[in-house]
Amino acid sequence: MPHVIEVKDLVRRFGDFTAVDRINFTVETGEIFGFLGPNGAGKTTTIKILSTLLKPTSGQALLAGYNVATQPDRVRHSIGMVFQDPSLDDRLTGEENLRFHAMLYNVPGDKLEERMDQVLEMVQLSDRRKSLVRTYSGGMKRRLEIARGLLHYPKVLFLDEPTVGLDPQTRSAIWEHVRRLRNEVGITVFMTTHYMDEAENCDRIAIIDHGRIQGLDTPEGLKEQLGGDKIVVEGDPALKRDLADAYHVRVQEVGDAYHFQVAQGAHFVPRVMGDFDGRITAIQVKQPSLDDVFLNLTGRAIREEDVSERDIMRQNMRMHRARR
Ligand SMILES: Nc1ncnc2c1ncn2[C@@H]1O[C@H](COP(=O)(O)OP(=O)(O)OP(=O)(O)O)[C@@H](O)[C@H]1O
Ligand SMILES: [Mg+2]
Repeated sequence: MPHVIEVKDLVRRFGDFTAVDRINFTVETGEIFGFLGPNGAGKTTTIKILSTLLKPTSGQALLAGYNVATQPDRVRHSIGMVFQDPSLDDRLTGEENLRFHAMLYNVPGDKLEERMDQVLEMVQLSDRRKSLVRTYSGGMKRRLEIARGLLHYPKVLFLDEPTVGLDPQTRSAIWEHVRRLRNEVGITVFMTTHYMDEAENCDRIAIIDHGRIQGLDTPEGLKEQLGGDKIVVEGDPALKRDLADAYHVRVQEVGDAYHFQVAQGAHFVPRVMGDFDGRITAIQVKQPSLDDVFLNLTGRAIREEDVSERDIMRQNMRMHRARR
């Protein structure tokens, strides 16, 4: 099966409001696929439809070949889910949380011990399996949720904002686990994020805003669509015209510097330094970021200050829960 997820003209309305607005995409088996978008973009709504928790208003979605609207049981057994909001029972131990999940998913009793060992080992929680979840750190809880999502051997693992509110080290540890899963178990990962740097870890990213997919490609592909690297040079005032003439580029004056785009910045630097021997006093190659891509596709930046405020709120909530 080439495409483990196939989405066609998918729409979800809440009353008059369209949260998901005719989206189309496919995800290949073994891919790490990401939805990148700001608050309210429609990321969770899409995940809920694909995981059968919400019905689509119109359009179609197939998961592992099963229709999410008409074959929800089949779909449910093909997926694992890590929700945006914490969903562990912190009065139980890590192991008890897994046993409870295994019961809901009819994991065969004779297979359970082996699988629990396996998934706990994978997220490096074997030594804490008998501890109450309320004594876990935020990152450990997230890792346990990922282990739980894997217990019934899903084909696709959904991760809705898996690292929100976690510190940078824990975030990168979780990413390491996700990549290992893909490499060792061959699982497909569908995740959402509003962290630009995190989206870089995906094989392909769909940029979603106001319920619509605004762009879909590899992180590199999305940046290439912007027309390559940004070159920033400083030097004499005639450079502006001379650079434009020499390389047929549009040169913008920003402060004391001149900015223009070229296809491959690193290769371009020695050339321009040779061509303009002695006239350039400073030069910099800047790679376009996913921020630049998002800005270009949607006309605005993902507002980081809102995001971090919400992250702090979530973190406080987690700490509060942990202390209870
Ligand atoms: N049950 C619901 N009833 C009414 N509106 C809803 C419902 N669920 C979601 N929405 C609206 O749909 C839009 C998309 O919400 P969704 O949760 O999918 O966003 P998101 O991209 O996951 O955002 P975030 O980054 O904040 O998690 C929002 O405007 C939200 O208010
Ligand atoms: Mg969400």
